[in-house]
Amino acid sequence: MTRLWFLLVFFSVLLGSIAVEGLGVNWGTMATHKLPPNTVVQMMKDNGIKKVKLFDADQNTMSALAGTEIEVMVAIPNDQLAVMNDYGRAKDWVKRNITRYLFNGGVNIKYVAVGNEPFLASYNNSFLNVTFPALQNIQDALNEAGHGDSIKATVPLNADVYNSPSDNSVPSAGRFRSDISDLMTQIVQFLNKNNAPFTVNIYPFLSLYANENFPLDFAFFDGTPNPLLDNGIQYNNVFDANFDTLVSALKAVGFGEMPILVGEVGWPTDGDKNANVGLAQRFYNGLLPRLAANKGTPLRPGYLEVYLFGLIDEDAKSIAPGNFERHWGIFRYDGQPKYQMDLSGQGQNTFLVAAKNVKYLPQRWCVLNPNAEDLSKLGENINFACTHSDCTALGYGSSCGNLDTQGNASYAFNMYYQAQNQQDLSCNFQGLAMVTTQNASQGNCNFTIQISPSSPLAPSLIASAILLVVVFFFV
Ligand SMILES: *[C@@H]1O[C@H](CO)[C@@H](O)[C@H](O)[C@H]1NC(C)=O
Ligand SMILES: *[C@@H]1O[C@H](CO)[C@@H](O)[C@H](O)[C@H]1NC(C)=O
Ligand SMILES: *[C@@H]1O[C@H](CO)[C@@H](O)[C@H](O)[C@H]1NC(C)=O
Ligand SMILES: *[C@@H]1O[C@H](CO)[C@@H](O)[C@H](O)[C@H]1NC(C)=O
Ligand SMILES: *[C@@H]1O[C@H](CO)[C@@H](O)[C@H](O)[C@H]1NC(C)=O
Ligand SMILES: *[C@@H]1O[C@H](CO)[C@@H](O)[C@H](O)[C@H]1NC(C)=O
Repeated sequence: MTRLWFLLVFFSVLLGSIAVEGLGVNWGTMATHKLPPNTVVQMMKDNGIKKVKLFDADQNTMSALAGTEIEVMVAIPNDQLAVMNDYGRAKDWVKRNITRYLFNGGVNIKYVAVGNEPFLASYNNSFLNVTFPALQNIQDALNEAGHGDSIKATVPLNADVYNSPSDNSVPSAGRFRSDISDLMTQIVQFLNKNNAPFTVNIYPFLSLYANENFPLDFAFFDGTPNPLLDNGIQYNNVFDANFDTLVSALKAVGFGEMPILVGEVGWPTDGDKNANVGLAQRFYNGLLPRLAANKGTPLRPGYLEVYLFGLIDEDAKSIAPGNFERHWGIFRYDGQPKYQMDLSGQGQNTFLVAAKNVKYLPQRWCVLNPNAEDLSKLGENINFACTHSDCTALGYGSSCGNLDTQGNASYAFNMYYQAQNQQDLSCNFQGLAMVTTQNASQGNCNFTIQISPSSPLAPSLIASAILLVVVFFFV
């Protein structure tokens, strides 16, 4: 028996392909160049990832997930919540985005995310009135269609729906934000009635980013000289403290036992002084073994379902919250792992399995022409390039933050050129730029080559062509 156990452990370590029970990833697609969905799904399978959270119900994504065992959370974006206040439209949505994929060999749908952090203070209450009715309609439509036992609607919420531990309060004092406490109570009652989980996104990185005085160690899991004490409970990290603040808030409205999913948690690798590979590794080296050991939190010991944010970098994401927004991936834009980690939580860090058969554009970079004489228009050209591509690595403390003015210009020109698929006209910049076949990377600053644009239309075009031919012969 022991020997068998040993062999099992040995093989699972060897293959490295079994992620922690309960571990999922967020698959966002706000990128100028998306990896083909089949490539991403294969990459998840190769790394033993068995759960995925989406931000929509895109048809190509869903088709790629069909026939896999991967558990899926599909989503309704915030801008469609108002429409879902009409029960007929909600029923139609369920029919077209859920029922349609529930055939034998279809998609293993577990949850529907109704909105994404709709009560964020920065949304100015825009979704305050439409979220709860949308949640009700979607769950009711799921129930009416006979899927309600296996598919639950939930609302992924930001931790700012409850007072956070950085407001100088202890977790046991957790309560829902006073301006939305009635609404939150109604939502929680409804979730409970349907045996649906509460979903919360918890970001230790953002606690650190928002507050210059936040103790760095408290963002991680490897101990702090200044733990937070709460009625005899010692909190050594903000993740536990934040999670237990929610547990207390739920308890205060009578649902202390409600199941909780962590919809997003992770650490970015660029775009801020605290966003780098070293700290991302430190974060996951703490988080993953705790999940594997079913540690839970002081108020909720045991199993936790957690979705890492995110799977792949997204170079077209809004940077309103900060430059780091485009660098949350555990994989780069091209499906290459950024650092070593162990998704099985056994601390055996190796590089994850990269995306396979990724096609790149040719090895060509666009840089500042060293012979350019009139540099008076350099600033406005850099500005143009950065407005239409991702220059977030150029900021202070980021991977390209040490470049000089020439380096800055070259970096910006190249990012624009790659975003434009290396079209000739996109490397001109009023005569300031030139194309080179020499790798323009400087030190830690990668001048990247984009992946070839994927053409999701191609297969359907071919299909239409075949159909046309068939129709032609039979009519
Ligand atoms: C739901 O399905 C329809 C029909 O395929 C599609 O147009 C729509 O974009 C889908 N909704 C989401 C949120 O992806
Ligand atoms: C919220 O309000 C602020 C100030 O009134 C405004 O600058 C911002 O654009 C608004 N945001 C949204 C999402 O409406
Ligand atoms: C939400 O509904 C309340 C009460 O009906 C109303 O006063 C408020 O203006 C609405 N808010 C928005 C953003 O529509
Ligand atoms: C390079 O660009 C960044 C971001 O635009 C800017 O903050 C920095 O000052 C620039 N550095 C130089 C030397 O021009
Ligand atoms: C360019 O050089 C950098 C740094 O040496 C390297 O990491 C990167 O892989 C190279 N890029 C290509 C496309 O060869
Ligand atoms: C640059 O790319 C190389 C691999 O090509 C990778 O090892 C390195 O981590 C990258 N650096 C950054 C800052 O992304």
